[in-house]
Amino acid sequence: MDTLELGLKGKVAIVTGASEGLGRACAERFARSGARVAMCARRADVLESAAKTIRQATGADVLALPADVTRAPDVEAFVAAVVSGFGGVDVLVNNAGTSAAAAFEAVDDRTWQDDIDLKLMAAVRFCRLVIPLMKARGGGAIVNVTTVGGKAPGARALPTSVTRAAGINLTKALATEYAPDGIRVNTVCLGIVKSAQWTRRATGDLDAFYRDVARQRRIPLGRVGEAAEFADLVAFLVSDRARFITGTAVNLDGGASAVV
Ligand SMILES: NC(=O)c1ccc[n+]([C@@H]2O[C@H](COP(=O)([O-])OP(=O)(O)OC[C@H]3O[C@@H](n4cnc5c(N)ncnc54)[C@H](OP(=O)(O)O)[C@@H]3O)[C@@H](O)[C@H]2O)c1
Repeated sequence: MDTLELGLKGKVAIVTGASEGLGRACAERFARSGARVAMCARRADVLESAAKTIRQATGADVLALPADVTRAPDVEAFVAAVVSGFGGVDVLVNNAGTSAAAAFEAVDDRTWQDDIDLKLMAAVRFCRLVIPLMKARGGGAIVNVTTVGGKAPGARALPTSVTRAAGINLTKALATEYAPDGIRVNTVCLGIVKSAQWTRRATGDLDAFYRDVARQRRIPLGRVGEAAEFADLVAFLVSDRARFITGTAVNLDGGASAVV
């Protein structure tokens, strides 16, 4: 089979929220491509188990440290550990997050603030720490994970649609500001992709559950996405093959979004 050489061998890649779901698939994809991977999540046992499996499957250098991305001291300690372990950072994937979709009047101040901390401020803090490291290496690539709702919100999708819009805006702002430094910044706007958060909600047969979700959401391609499809897209976006792509928001939603 013809292969697309990604040029990720030896690169240092941070993936947040990497113990399960999409972050884990992404960490494994990077590791298979020869990157050195630094992964964080809050639950130490789940994180270490994922890291161990990835190390065994790929033979890659994998650094796994528990961190809550909503806590600035955790973010600082994590990035410091990556620098001390791997000597710098080439790739950052701001992925940690969870669903928070409710009707406007049901969302109180605490919920708004928590979602801003998780989906906006975590990415802001990681970028603030990592961009100087990327500049020192002559460039880098950042992917912010957001949702299609950040472009075109539906009803009862708060606070997520607003915090994701902020993530999309942050992506464009940083892409423009840091292009001269060789740092590319893109976002993947998700629709519905198989992951641990969906598995937790499923009752009964998982395949039937995903088929129902695809039907209810009227996904044009007729199914939900696979975590590996997310990982492939992110790996491409951070790779040399995408070196002319920055400030872009790519929908990964099977055609579900009404907007491009
Ligand atoms: N899958 C989808 O259909 C979909 C759709 C729209 C958006 N997204 C977004 O895609 C990203 C990945 O979602 P997923 O579906 O893969 O979710 P998931 O299966 O629930 O995995 C989430 C990962 O993030 C970690 N995490 C959550 N909060 C964290 C925090 N405060 N600090 C550090 N790590 C944290 C979790 O580990 P711990 O709990 O141990 O911390 C876990 O490793 C999220 O940003 C999510 O909002 C996903």
